[in-house]
Amino acid sequence: MTQKMIDQAKAVMRKNDRGTYTVPTHGLYPFQWNWDSALSALGFAHFDEPRAWTEIETLLAHQWEDGMVPHIIFHQRDDGYFPGPDVWGTGRPVPTSGITQPAVAGFAIRRIYDRAQNKVLAAEKARALLPKIHAWHQWFFANRDPQGTGLVAIIHPWESGRDNSVDWDAAFKRVPTEGVQPFTRRDTSHTNPAHRPTDEQYKRYIWLVEKFRSLGWDNSKLHDASPFQIVDPGFNAILIRSCADLAILAKSLGEVEIAAQSQAMADKAIAAMETLWSEKLGQYACYDRTLGALVDSPSIGGILATFAPIPTTQAKAISDRIEVLAASCNYLVPSHDPTAPEFDALRYWRGPIWLIVNYMIADGLEIAGQSAMANRINRDCLSLIDQSGFAEYYGPINAEPCGGDAFTWTAAMVIEILSTHEIAA
Ligand code: DGY
Repeated sequence: MTQKMIDQAKAVMRKNDRGTYTVPTHGLYPFQWNWDSALSALGFAHFDEPRAWTEIETLLAHQWEDGMVPHIIFHQRDDGYFPGPDVWGTGRPVPTSGITQPAVAGFAIRRIYDRAQNKVLAAEKARALLPKIHAWHQWFFANRDPQGTGLVAIIHPWESGRDNSVDWDAAFKRVPTEGVQPFTRRDTSHTNPAHRPTDEQYKRYIWLVEKFRSLGWDNSKLHDASPFQIVDPGFNAILIRSCADLAILAKSLGEVEIAAQSQAMADKAIAAMETLWSEKLGQYACYDRTLGALVDSPSIGGILATFAPIPTTQAKAISDRIEVLAASCNYLVPSHDPTAPEFDALRYWRGPIWLIVNYMIADGLEIAGQSAMANRINRDCLSLIDQSGFAEYYGPINAEPCGGDAFTWTAAMVIEILSTHEIAA
């Protein structure tokens, strides 16, 4: 059973492999996505180490001069996706989007390096990637935390990866729709529109793109100019974990300056993370920087915070919080609290389960000593695959496969979980 699932997962990854990068899935996402690639590399590392390194090298080869690593790299033309390079208008030699995504590459390279069979190759690759990923982390704090709070803001929902989360329903309403150029969505021709964001949300997504484009994608201007500035605990946790992991990796490679700077960024952010703790929700919450207030929304963003080295008391509280969520769904971890009125079991980030997020939550819980809950989450991941295949995401009540199918990072997580865990029944 285990080997069969691993073989099926490898076949999915091979199918989506375009040589030097993978597409998340055929049709719906025909280019390279930032955090998809970094997490997919973890899967490749179990059966093709050089290919794992190549995946992350390709991503970093398209880093901007200011340090940003874009969220999409348009390696080839494909009119099946909207918004394409013309809408972004970033003027890059190989077209890219103009915003970023969760900074998980630092975590990924440390994990791949630590487990590498080919240590010589790993040291060479990690040493070359280290300063690039470090520059990206520094870019975040310089450009998305201009007041030096220790935490960074996203300026577009797509940056978080949790596009239509309930967390920013209120903030997103402040983004106008007037003047947006008419467009045709492509995502809904590849997959069920009931599983995707609404047309209204798409207009606002595009308004922000057009606004940033009108500012020439100058990152020194975008944060302050954006009507949408959200400090997402999950997004920050990923960045913190990557800074902390890069510090350890840099130290073992003798890069003392990168090690010290990375640790300092992580320490400051971990302390600041506590300002996002919500007693009311029993978990972390988003902070709306425009309003200067925490957002009262029980989503997975505040649970994913456990991926960072947060205090063990908070990790225990998050484990308890997941236990509460388990009472209202059949599979863990729903992306929104099923008892909340906005919960929507099949609509993207308003309820469904995502294996990559499950993996990061379980990893953090395990390190914090919450192994029973970590094991339960991993077990649910495998039972979702068993019932519904390698989907993009899954309904937490009935395990429906949602979004795209034959999905790269879902497959990568299955290989990673099965290759590194004995899952207790
Ligand atoms: C999409 O197109 O749905 C992506 O999430 C944007 O990156």
